Formats: sequence, structure tokens, C-alpha cells
Amino acid sequence: MGRLDGRAAIVTGGAQGIGAAYAQGLAREGAAVAVADILDTSDVVTAINDNGGRALGVSADVSDNDSVAALIDAAVSEFGNVDILVNNAAIFASLDLKPFSAIPDDEWDRVMNVNIGGLFRCARAVVPEMQKNGYGKIINISSGTVFNGAPMMLHYVTSKAAVLGFTRSLAREVGDMGICVNALAPGFTLSEGIEANASYVDPVKDMIVASRAIKRGQTPEDLVGALVFLASADSDFMTGQTMLVDGGHYTH
Ligand SMILES: NC(=O)c1ccc[n+]([C@@H]2O[C@H](COP(=O)([O-])OP(=O)(O)OC[C@H]3O[C@@H](n4cnc5c(N)ncnc54)[C@H](O)[C@@H]3O)[C@@H](O)[C@H]2O)c1
Repeated sequence: MGRLDGRAAIVTGGAQGIGAAYAQGLAREGAAVAVADILDTSDVVTAINDNGGRALGVSADVSDNDSVAALIDAAVSEFGNVDILVNNAAIFASLDLKPFSAIPDDEWDRVMNVNIGGLFRCARAVVPEMQKNGYGKIINISSGTVFNGAPMMLHYVTSKAAVLGFTRSLAREVGDMGICVNALAPGFTLSEGIEANASYVDPVKDMIVASRAIKRGQTPEDLVGALVFLASADSDFMTGQTMLVDGGHYTH
């Protein structure tokens, strides 16, 4: 028996990398999962369904209200309800590192619109569904970078810091509806998107590993246990919190 049997989840940005690991981890625990992305989700959906799980691929853009509404509708019509939202979609691995003064306005706006605006749009659309059942779990993906700051990606780190304020404040608005809202902050993780971006990996990988209490590279799978905990009944009295999973790089 899985810890999420009978539950239905949405994972945004689930086509690859950490989001794909979340989707597969939730499915292994028995949740039906809508895997949403602007990229093709079919590999992840096929992997889940071939392993005896239940997944639905949805083409969805979290920066667009109509697309988000269609995502929630698709999940509800396929699964009957939505209990878990993992707000994972972000503009991240595709970003080029640059000094803050070189960030163009439109790139700043795009990062904010997806990385924090997307959480708002998805939460606003899904809360009425969770409210019907008096139960829900919203898990917002932040980043370990916010605990110490990180150079050359000011828009990204700012957007991930906003996730903490969003999480704490939304938790206070929906607690009486039976909905928990928590944040999960990964450390530097060797997702496929990051591995493909040498400008990220090469300068920092060894330095970050050396600064951890547990001195090895972090993989997407390292995050799945914490994610499942936040999605499951094991965390039903925990809300507004941020879990940092980074091998002991930062402490807070
Ligand atoms: N890898 C790391 O070191 C690390 C560290 C801390 C936090 N994170 C966070 O974890 C999450 C996943 O990271 P990753 O390494 O797998 O990065 P990634 O860039 O490979 O994954 C992000 C996913 O979001 C999708 N996406 C982007 N814009 C979207 C939109 N408008 N609508 C829907 N989907 C969209 C992308 O297509 C991609 O599949 C992100 O929120 C990232 O900020 C990653």
C-alpha cells in the first residue's frame, strides 16, 4: 500500500529533471499524476504507466491563465479531484549566468512571471478543487540559493526568495480549508537541464560538494523523500514551512 493511494497530483515542469523525479516518486506511492509542462511529457507519462502507475500528460504553460485553467480541468476530469499541487515549473536551467546589470527587463519579467507568477496562477486555480474535499497539499519549489544569495542570477534567486513569502502567506489563508502549503528548497542538483549547461556546472560543482556536510553530488532522487513527506498525511499539521534538502550545505 502506498502513502498516496487514492490521491491525485499535478506536477508542473514535470517533463524532465527534478520535476520528472517528483512525478515518478508520487506515482510510486500510489498517486495519480498529471505531468504538466511546455515540453513534451510523454517519456515521463509512459515510464509511470509502464510501471503500473497512473499518469496523464498535459501541455500547460504556467504563465498563462487559460492554460492553467485547462490543466486543472484536465486533471479533475481524468482523476475526479486534485489533492496535491507541486509548483515546480521554473525558468532555471536554460538561464545564462550574467551580472545583475546585464539582465534585460524582458528576461527579468519572464522569470518573475513563471517562477513566482506561475505559483500564484496554479494555486488560485486549484484551491477551489481542494476546498471541495476540505484537503490539499501545495508544495512550492524554492532553492537553497536564497539562504546565502548567489551571484549572476539575481532574477532567479529573487523569484525563489519570493516563494518563501508566498508559501507563508498562502498557508495562513487556506489553513482553515484543510490545505497545507509548504516549500521545498533543493540544493544544487544535477538534473539533466543543469548537466547540459556547462556554465553552471563547471565553475561551482566541486566547490558546492566540498561545502556540504555530505560530500557528494545531489541527484533529483535525493529530493523525492521530502517531497512525498510534504504530499502525504505524515505532514498534515505542518504548513508555511520550508524544507531545505542540500546535503547540509546551508543551515537555517
Ligand atoms: N537543479 C538545481 O540545482 C535546482 C536547485 C534549486 C532549485 N531548483 C528548482 O527545481 C525545479 C526543477 O529544476 P530542474 O533542475 O529540473 O530545472 P529545469 O529547468 O530542467 O526544469 C524546469 C521545468 O519547468 C518547465 N517550464 C519552464 N517554464 C514553464 C512554463 N511557463 N510552464 C510550464 N512549465 C515550464 C521546463 O520546461 C522544465 O521542464 C525548478 O523550480 C528549479 O528552480 C533546481
